Amino acid sequence: MRQEGTKQEGTRQLIVVGLGPGDPELVTVKGRRAIEAADLVFVPRSHTSEESRALHIARPWLNPQRQQVVLLTLPMTRDATHAAETYRTVAEEIGTRLADQRRETARGVYLLLGDPLLYGTFTCIWGELVARWPSLAVEVVPGVTSFAAAAAQVGLPLSTHQERVAIVPASEQLDSTALEQLCASFETVIVMKVGRVLPQLIAALDTIGLLDRAIYAEHIGMPEERIVRDPGSLRDYQGPYLSLLIVRQKGENEP
Ligand SMILES: C[S@@+](CC[C@H](N)C(=O)[O-])C[C@H]1O[C@@H](n2cnc3c(N)ncnc32)[C@H](O)[C@@H]1O
Repeated sequence: MRQEGTKQEGTRQLIVVGLGPGDPELVTVKGRRAIEAADLVFVPRSHTSEESRALHIARPWLNPQRQQVVLLTLPMTRDATHAAETYRTVAEEIGTRLADQRRETARGVYLLLGDPLLYGTFTCIWGELVARWPSLAVEVVPGVTSFAAAAAQVGLPLSTHQERVAIVPASEQLDSTALEQLCASFETVIVMKVGRVLPQLIAALDTIGLLDRAIYAEHIGMPEERIVRDPGSLRDYQGPYLSLLIVRQKGENEP
């Protein structure tokens, strides 16, 4: 095992690319150029058996003859010790792979859905990576977030004038009381990571009288995209991991 990043020679760069929600046309020009120019392509995924959505989006721009794809397994866990150990291992793998490149300048890209700095896995390993490999240059290419793409699909303004927007992760704690407090303070509330909590969220929105102000979206920008404007019809449905809710209290002059 390498002790320090100081052993690496030449320039080592890692560009963290936000790919947008799924539609390849929403990948930025800058992101695409970074992907095409990379020597190493790092792709995180939550289970070893799961085909990476990020890899699927980027595949048309990859050149298997010249580039190496490195799949990184980042299991979703609430065990902080296990998570920290995984992040260390992944940071070590990225740093080592880049350092071991023979060429003077080695470029890697780390691919993510949406925007890298919004609940992105890279933020979990960033600190570890720069601590171990201090000379590694890290750059972030922003991406279209899933909720921006969902709002665009349904033509829903997220905020106007002085309105406030909250972005929160779904959890069992997000009950009707918590949602009511949020909706009292923010004109728009975006709930990410909805998945299995969907029935509970629908019931909570019903309790506080805001179910008709909610829009449910899953797999935005992907072939299986689904948008539901009356989430009350989904009371018994457990959403997939890639799902979100937008609760918008109607603004002035809005359709
Ligand atoms: C780990 S977070 C990543 C967020 C991402 N970085 C972004 O900017 O949207 C994963 C959550 O983002 C949302 N998400 C990401 N991509 C999505 C998509 N294509 N359709 C619907 N929701 C999506 C879901 O709420 C999902 O549980």
